[in-house]
Amino acid sequence: MYALPLVTVTLASFGVSGVRSGVAGRQTDEPWTNPIVEGWYADPDGLKFGDTYWVYATVSIAFDNQTWFDAWSSPDLVTWTKQEPPVFSASSAWAVDWLWAPCTIERDGKYYFFYTANNPIDNEGNAGIGVAVADTPGGPFNDLIDHPIVDKHINEANAMDPQVFVDDDGTYYLIWGGSFVNIARLSDDMASIVPWEDGSEAKEITPDQGFGEGSFMLKREGIYYFMWSEGGYGTPDYRVAYAMSESVLGPFERIGLMLSKDEVVADGPGHHSIFEDDDGEYYIVYHRRIIGDDVGDNRVVAIDRVFFNDDGTIQPVVMT
Ligand SMILES: *[C@@H]1O[C@H](CO)[C@@H](O)[C@H](O)[C@H]1NC(C)=O
Repeated sequence: MYALPLVTVTLASFGVSGVRSGVAGRQTDEPWTNPIVEGWYADPDGLKFGDTYWVYATVSIAFDNQTWFDAWSSPDLVTWTKQEPPVFSASSAWAVDWLWAPCTIERDGKYYFFYTANNPIDNEGNAGIGVAVADTPGGPFNDLIDHPIVDKHINEANAMDPQVFVDDDGTYYLIWGGSFVNIARLSDDMASIVPWEDGSEAKEITPDQGFGEGSFMLKREGIYYFMWSEGGYGTPDYRVAYAMSESVLGPFERIGLMLSKDEVVADGPGHHSIFEDDDGEYYIVYHRRIIGDDVGDNRVVAIDRVFFNDDGTIQPVVMT
């Protein structure tokens, strides 16, 4: 068991920008202060490449104006440096706007950047999930192919919110979806999804209840944790739930919430990612809302710790 530090409520007033001032926080022993970066950002993808932490995020503005992605790097989770130029800009053959939900992964020394573009909820053919590539985690990433890697509803799942999950055996999976969620294996060159043995393009792994969007698969001690966001992202009740399974294909039965609003810290936390540090500690990177703020796009990026119980279940995240 870990002893959580005693929490006291504090009102952080950074006086730096309008975005950060007035954000309620919790004082803890953690060295960083949430939100970790300035500005409205969402759907953060946080992970470590070598000795450097990276966070990639959706620019949380009107969909039509979402034409690039930003990212930050840090040596210590405290000091974050914004990447210039932006890690990805919509200058590709097909992706124009409505860019959201980035996911970056390393494979054989190259860095692959998966993203959503062009209103994938309504359009088919020229909208969905893209994949770009770069030689360094800071990009800029250029499209690997001149079309979406997933460009239509499969198993009723919207072609959005990609996550690449790498299993212990080295298999790379693409997991994605809105309303329903799919899994498929990625080809060795990361440019396509590989049909399953039965010929299906993707297997549906939607949990038994609550699934909305923002999928995230994590494997720990042989158990697959499938996590997702529930509720409307512009509402205080946006939240993260999870399921556990011994198979990457499920079935996934909802266990409960692992991250939800906290009346003294933040509303609407969700669309997260989790990474394990070199010392075995787990961190969750997510976006959240300022309490009482009803502007849908006003989302900020935060990091907190994730602790597991002895039976493998996840303790509710204490937002700081
Ligand atoms: C998009 O950006 C342009 C240029 O800054 C601005 O005029 C416009 O109002 C923005 N669109 C929306 C829907 O906010």
